[in-house]
Amino acid sequence: MIHDYGRRGDNVTGVEIDWSRLRAAATEVAGRAYAPYSRLRVGAAGQTPDGRVVLGCNVENASYGLTLCAECGLVCALHASGGGTFVAVSVVAADGDPLLPCGRCRQLLLETAGPGLLVDTSSGPRALAELLPGAFTKDDLDTRRSRDA
Ligand code: THU
Repeated sequence: MIHDYGRRGDNVTGVEIDWSRLRAAATEVAGRAYAPYSRLRVGAAGQTPDGRVVLGCNVENASYGLTLCAECGLVCALHASGGGTFVAVSVVAADGDPLLPCGRCRQLLLETAGPGLLVDTSSGPRALAELLPGAFTKDDLDTRRSRDA
């Protein structure tokens, strides 16, 4: 069940997470972002349970509302590179410091999350469950649809 993200605290998968490597990869890909309008280049790196590191960067557009956050690219790259889940994600600006994912991207990350997905922050890793409490999930779709029979 990939949306079983409710546990807080340490990574519950037992997979070792190399946070400095992940943050360095996110910083490198932030340098390839296309952000001529906001001039905030963002990079995202996610680690899968088998140790794969997947990358994404933000891509803006002259039609501002079409902007793709770095996490959008990250989630696409996860699926395009074989699928699976993330155990850890680091999102940074081009200066290399962590940036907390926007609300929409927390919801996006939720569906890529193995149990206990951890998000890099400047004060240490935090569980996605803590950053997105009370999230809408596939379970809500199933239960509410069934009531409409
Ligand atoms: N941005 C991201 O890439 N991820 C976030 O979680 C927050 C915002 C990007 C979108 C836009 O290109 C720029 O940062 C300024 O909002």
